[in-house]
Amino acid sequence: MDLFEYQARDIFAKHDVPVLAGEVIDTPEAAREVTERLGGRAVVKAQVKTGGRGKAGGVKLASDPADAVEKANAILGMDIKGHTVHKVMLAQTADIAEEYYVSFLLDRTNRTFLAMASVEGGVEIEEVAATKPEALAKIPVDAIEGVTEAKAREIVEAAKFPAELHDQVVNVLQKLWDVFVKEDALLVEVNPLVKTGDGKVIALDGKVSLDANADFRQPDHDALEDKAAANPLEAAAKAKGLNYVKLDDGQVGIIGNGAGLVMSTLDVVAYAGEAHSNVKPANFLDIGGGASAEVMANGLEIILGDPDVKSVFVNVFGGITACDAVANGIVQALELLKSKGEDVSKPLVVRLDGNNAELGRKILTDANHPLVQQVDTMDGAADRAAELAAK
Ligand SMILES: Nc1ncnc2c1ncn2[C@@H]1O[C@H](COP(=O)(O)OP(=O)(O)OP(=O)(O)O)[C@@H](O)[C@H]1O
Ligand SMILES: [Mg+2]
Repeated sequence: MDLFEYQARDIFAKHDVPVLAGEVIDTPEAAREVTERLGGRAVVKAQVKTGGRGKAGGVKLASDPADAVEKANAILGMDIKGHTVHKVMLAQTADIAEEYYVSFLLDRTNRTFLAMASVEGGVEIEEVAATKPEALAKIPVDAIEGVTEAKAREIVEAAKFPAELHDQVVNVLQKLWDVFVKEDALLVEVNPLVKTGDGKVIALDGKVSLDANADFRQPDHDALEDKAAANPLEAAAKAKGLNYVKLDDGQVGIIGNGAGLVMSTLDVVAYAGEAHSNVKPANFLDIGGGASAEVMANGLEIILGDPDVKSVFVNVFGGITACDAVANGIVQALELLKSKGEDVSKPLVVRLDGNNAELGRKILTDANHPLVQQVDTMDGAADRAAELAAK
């Protein structure tokens, strides 16, 4: 989960990373009072989860409270790379002497964590990284050792920070590593990290991405989610603990067990759809190994509740959970949904294979549900589901 800048600022403050005072608002009028509180001047900053806000006109200096209202008015509602600005942060103004760049991230390719740092930070950092890679130091960070003082010094020296700032930047790097570890982040980036006129080092803009896999041990992170922006179906699926992703422009609902099987199901349905008015898969949903009737019912409820879905493809390869259990799950799930008054009227194409497939098929055949059709092969079932969705 990517955070807004103001949320990153708050998390930095919690871990003693030096930041400036800042407050987030969603109406222009509120800018007056906040700017007064900040000392009469403020930087007005669009809060959107994309980069390049400054270049797009989303970061503006306000010289007094009335000017802040005007600037907030101009920035609120602005479109930045397809993101509408609903909130702005007002931040204390910094007297900037230099702009640097520092970040920690997960380096999947090299199976390690990585520190990056440059004394040529600021809004042109992408340009620097692309054209002057030697100006961006990249230092691997061992997961167990972390950013010790020695490691932080290595980073600071590799990036050629001015000697008089070494101690301060070492301290900031260690605090940012605290953020990275204690908040279970995948990315902690500061651009710019600034030196002020009086020689202080401050994080002026932060980007933090949190690892959703750690949500179970980070109860505070739920409150950071941008609930208004969340897809309602994804939010409902999340509340039910389902591994669901809504896809654009799809008509065939997909349920499968195992992420790999579901991914390949998306492929075969997209391929089959080419022969049926170009219908496409409408979602990813992996109900995992132990597909109980309840999990199946939860999954079906989400998918049937998607107005884009015209047919559903249930693709199951029985393993530890055998096909007879899955078949019983489907039958019970349909009954469960009916008893809850859900509208169950979309055709379901079911393909069962693997452990106890024959028994599973027999259970579905005997149940003789008017909406359920069985096709024994994955390609055949994908074709049938696409055909039904195209009708
Ligand atoms: N509080 C502040 N005081 C003075 N100048 C600031 C302040 N915040 C930002 N700036 C200036 O505005 C520039 C852009 O701000 P910021 O880094 O927050 O946005 P951005 O880099 O354009 O956005 P993104 O990081 O999403 O690309 C900074 O490089 C800095 O020069
Ligand atoms: Mg920035």
